[in-house]
Amino acid sequence: MRKMIIAGNWKMNMTNSESSELVKSLVEQIGQVENPLVIVCPPYTALSVVKKLLDGSNIFLGAQNMYAEQSGAYTGEISPSMLLTIGTTYVILGHSERREYFSETDRMVSAKVKLALESGLLPIVCVGEKLDERESGKTEDVIGSQIDGSLADLDADDMKKIIVAYEPIWAIGTGKTATPEMAQEVHSFIRGRLKDRFGDIADEVTIQYGGSVKGDNAAGLLSQPDIDGALVGGASLKVDQFVKIVNSV
Ligand code: 13P
Repeated sequence: MRKMIIAGNWKMNMTNSESSELVKSLVEQIGQVENPLVIVCPPYTALSVVKKLLDGSNIFLGAQNMYAEQSGAYTGEISPSMLLTIGTTYVILGHSERREYFSETDRMVSAKVKLALESGLLPIVCVGEKLDERESGKTEDVIGSQIDGSLADLDADDMKKIIVAYEPIWAIGTGKTATPEMAQEVHSFIRGRLKDRFGDIADEVTIQYGGSVKGDNAAGLLSQPDIDGALVGGASLKVDQFVKIVNSV
């Protein structure tokens, strides 16, 4: 059985005091939930503060990015070993906002995935098509090549440690969610692609959906056979919304 996983991507939001407030409420309300597995991904500046408050709960800590080197002259970057020293377990890699605003390519994402795995971090690898790509019938081409490129040179054992997140770019922050059927179609395509490359382990890979997931649309999405969780942006900043999403599994 693959794991249901709900992760909150706080993006560039939340001061340390706001983070504390949010996470205290989450621990109170969903801190002991075991299914789904719950992850919060605060900004780097709040990771330590949040980690202390998560201790003793079942909620895991994730980062939103990392650099593909362990140390050195890379001003402004954060390495996997730095994330590990503060108790980070997961790391989001290849988010569409990184790809779009910071020019991250599949090659760069793939280097990060490899170093994350070598270091002991568990990657959440994001893929997703733009609106014009969907409208011109290229969704599978785009997603297929992102999967191949971002997960290059890995084997089935590596794949056991990876979460894939399908986030159609046109659904991120727009309030437009893919219908459960539209999302299921792509999730099933992704699982098929993983199966071709890595074999039966593909059945164990958690594939999350992301893009305007809210308390009232989560249940429909999560009931699809190949949707194994959600990567939640805006709604993860609101306690009641995020708790509702977690409780809709
Ligand atoms: P929204 O839930 O705000 O659409 O963001 C989705 C996302 O990008 C999560 O990584």
